[in-house]
Amino acid sequence: MYDFAADPALPKPELYRQLCAAADALTAGERDGIANMANVAALIWEFVPRLNWSGFYRMVEDELVLGPFAGRPACIRIPLGQGVCGAAARTGETQLVEDVHTFPGHIACDAASRSELVVPVFRDGAVIAVIDLDSPEPARFDREDADGLEALAAILSDRI
Ligand code: SME
Repeated sequence: MYDFAADPALPKPELYRQLCAAADALTAGERDGIANMANVAALIWEFVPRLNWSGFYRMVEDELVLGPFAGRPACIRIPLGQGVCGAAARTGETQLVEDVHTFPGHIACDAASRSELVVPVFRDGAVIAVIDLDSPEPARFDREDADGLEALAAILSDRI
């Protein structure tokens, strides 16, 4: 049994430090990337409060394809450069969107989503996937969330 004690009241840097430690422990030594993404999507869901979606899109033949996630069913394919995820994948830059309604081309998989954080995962300098977090709260995410997710993405570079 995996029993990670996530405390949503923790300061964000400590919450993400614990999330990264749990993800590191769960994925170390497991070579199946789908299994690792599935466990990490579930861990994010458990550790990070006030989300309505957490998961992965994988780069497959120059477009993003839905990967393991927690939350409601989502759009399956996202062309590079489209939506928040496509922007992160095309630019290689974290996308911190306080109000998705103002983001040009935002793809609304769930009408309840109001803010979004998307972080690319790199391997050998190329984007291989993105981690996507959605929240029903406007401006739910800040730089501390982005720093925490970028640290998680670095751990996953050769494990997904
Ligand atoms: N909103 C994303 C699409 C993915 S869902 O949020 C799960 C986007 O604009 O890329």
